[in-house]
Amino acid sequence: MKITTISIFPEYFSPLELSLIGKARSQSLIDFKSINLRDFTTDNHHSVDDTPYGGGAGMVMMAEPWGLAIDSILEKDSEIDLIILTPAGAKFNQKKAEKLSGAKHLVFACGRYEGIDTRVGDYYRGVSGVRVHEISIGDYVVNGGEVAALVIIEAVTRLIPGVIGNPASLDEESHNEVGALEYPTFTKPAIWREINVPEVLLSGNHGQIQKWRQEEAKRRSELGQ
Ligand code: ADE
Repeated sequence: MKITTISIFPEYFSPLELSLIGKARSQSLIDFKSINLRDFTTDNHHSVDDTPYGGGAGMVMMAEPWGLAIDSILEKDSEIDLIILTPAGAKFNQKKAEKLSGAKHLVFACGRYEGIDTRVGDYYRGVSGVRVHEISIGDYVVNGGEVAALVIIEAVTRLIPGVIGNPASLDEESHNEVGALEYPTFTKPAIWREINVPEVLLSGNHGQIQKWRQEEAKRRSELGQ
């Protein structure tokens, strides 16, 4: 899978050199590129934002640097999934991660300030070969789309075959219904600071263990813990 991020802080993505994603990159399972939006500005100050039409606080990111940056990607690859990070987008979830894990090239537009001029999404929705997704990672506002892109990249890439060392763990997750939280987990020692591991987990009875785990996962989901 190809992944390209567009941002005014391309260094924000250095964590993608670490851990499983770093390894997947060295194995060429993921081809990652981080591009600097300011390379697509045309004025001496490399401006990317301006005041909002209609007034109000803050600045809005101008459409043209985004247009030039996205066009530069389309010159090499005419089929992309363009993900625009915005708190006003559709809420990200596991189902969306699964759908995106089948994509060939994900392009993340990471806005800052009060967001990107709305015409960018509107324009690329009309360009053939481009699927536009406006996505929010949750009902809160962060300072920019970079951290949201990192969340989505991690959730999506771990679903690509070969990225996770033990694919059985993905299999277990997929048996959970969407939104169900996983069961509580324990490892050695069996007693830690006078707290015991639940008896059933030491019983060796796999049927009982599975039943207990399902009940606990259900209880946690209901409590929203
Ligand atoms: N940018 C600012 N807040 C965001 C959020 N919750 N999701 C995606 N992008 C954002």
